[in-house]
Amino acid sequence: MTNLDFEKIVDTSDEWITTRTGIKERHIASDTMTTADMSVEACKRAMDMAKCRKEDIDLVICGTVTPDYRLPSNACMIQKELGLTNALAFDVVAACTGFINGLVIANSYISTGLYKKALVIGAEKLSAIANYKDRTTCVLFGDGAGAVVVEPSANERGIVSSFMKSDGRLWQLLWMEVGGIKNPYTPEFPYDGSDKIFMNGAEVFKVAVKEMAKAVENVLEKANVSPSDIALFVPHQANLRIIDALAKRLKISPERVFKNIEKYGNTSAASVPIALDEANREGRIKPGDYVVVVAFGGGLIWGSALIKW
Ligand code: UT7
Repeated sequence: MTNLDFEKIVDTSDEWITTRTGIKERHIASDTMTTADMSVEACKRAMDMAKCRKEDIDLVICGTVTPDYRLPSNACMIQKELGLTNALAFDVVAACTGFINGLVIANSYISTGLYKKALVIGAEKLSAIANYKDRTTCVLFGDGAGAVVVEPSANERGIVSSFMKSDGRLWQLLWMEVGGIKNPYTPEFPYDGSDKIFMNGAEVFKVAVKEMAKAVENVLEKANVSPSDIALFVPHQANLRIIDALAKRLKISPERVFKNIEKYGNTSAASVPIALDEANREGRIKPGDYVVVVAFGGGLIWGSALIKW
């Protein structure tokens, strides 16, 4: 769906969307394609790349706020579809930070020896919860999925340090009012957008830049790594201006910052794994490189990880 497509449904312009967000187009899943469907596709490709057998996967963690059903988890749907009968599967509800959160949980479980091979997924069908009558938010979001296989490493490679934090005081800056048990849908429910995403973009923007910068500084300091040692910075793709401000604040030069927001928009939990996969397949990361991922989303919640690739 291009910016020009949006000009036809809300009072907006390609010029506004491009200059304020950096987005040119986003992918919208078909009516019948679900978040679990996209996740399964991503998992197959990740397992293929990692040459991993389904019997060996013992942990499946899916970051999503758009699961196919309220119950059970999306991760259980993925487990069933892929026949991962030896695994524990559960979701992480951490909005745009869901993938990084899942990665940190998988890393902790694997480090303690509890599990050996994890699939960590970030997947969203945001088109299902975007308010296509609200120009301030609908132009931002896209659908997608990404996945990684995480396993113990015999050398120094892997997740070197991580940081996760949230501030529940700010939950109403980015939320959906109707649809949970507090405000369930009723037969009389009037369509006013309160069952779709609401975001106070300008406020979220300010907190996002400040806290993501601190989160990255935290993981670098803990590992005694300086910003100049980072081979590739892979931030959540929510807004080009946020990415640029973050890189400037952290003194990471533009050629070391991965950006694909132009093609996908904000895919929430899927944004970092999609970006990581593209960067990897494009040959922008070599074994031994330091890669930093960071994300920020509704909660508010944010997190970062330093990875030795
Ligand atoms: O992924 C989870 C975390 N999310 C984020 O990190 C998103 C953070 N926020 C943002 O990326 C930005 O705040 C937005 C892209 C959402 C908005 O950009 P902004 O520069 O903060 O714009 P604004 O909300 O301050 O609005 C500026 C103007 C307003 O008009 P007035 O009041 O100045 O007349 C808006 O009504 O732009 C108007 N506007 C639009 N105009 C054309 C808002 N949306 C649109 C639009 N097309 N789609």
